[in-house]
Amino acid sequence: MAYQPKDAFYRKAKREGYRSRAAYKLLELNRRFRVIKPGDRVVDLGAAPGGWLQVAAELAGPKGKVVGVDLQLITPFREPNLIVLQGDITTEECIEKIREALAAPANCVLSDVSPRLTGIRDADISRSIELARMALKAACSLLAPGGNFLVKIFMSEELGAFSAGIKERFRSVDRTRPEATRKGSSEIYLCARSYRGPQAGR
Ligand SMILES: C[S@@+](CC[C@H](N)C(=O)[O-])C[C@H]1O[C@@H](n2cnc3c(N)ncnc32)[C@H](O)[C@@H]1O
Repeated sequence: MAYQPKDAFYRKAKREGYRSRAAYKLLELNRRFRVIKPGDRVVDLGAAPGGWLQVAAELAGPKGKVVGVDLQLITPFREPNLIVLQGDITTEECIEKIREALAAPANCVLSDVSPRLTGIRDADISRSIELARMALKAACSLLAPGGNFLVKIFMSEELGAFSAGIKERFRSVDRTRPEATRKGSSEIYLCARSYRGPQAGR
């Protein structure tokens, strides 16, 4: 994607103290789909620099717990119930670290994971799908039955098959593109609600 100047969402995030403009995507997605409720245990995959973590912590409130993980170091937060980890979500070791930090099954798993873009469309799309699949695998191993999963993915012919795989495991799946998505981006979000449990989709 071509360089885009700092837009209204970027400036709003600066004014309102969010670490990224992406915060407004999660706020909108949660207004529409209510994936996070007060008291929830939330996992955020691909969480740096932490805009979604701030929103998730606000939505889950003081009785909730939020664990964020990224390949990059995330500057820690002051809130004791907002934990940040460094790791690769495609590894079992990283999922185990999340499980330990959470100490109980999650009510919601978020994934805004994006590959480092090369500009080669096919390669970028195929890596995005691969990461979304790994995020789904992580969600199925971390979520409690009834939990929700929100995942970013790039538009492609493989989207239908990926979406069908999610439908086997969750009671409903919606596809959406929040207002803060940059113009020209091919990303969309799938919002899956009510995990059927580990036996589903096998
Ligand atoms: C769009 S950014 C996330 C922005 C974040 N939601 C926010 O609000 O600040 C995508 C992140 O995915 C991370 N990422 C990509 N591959 C990853 C992997 N295998 N494991 C963990 N994080 C990964 C990148 O390092 C990047 O920080």
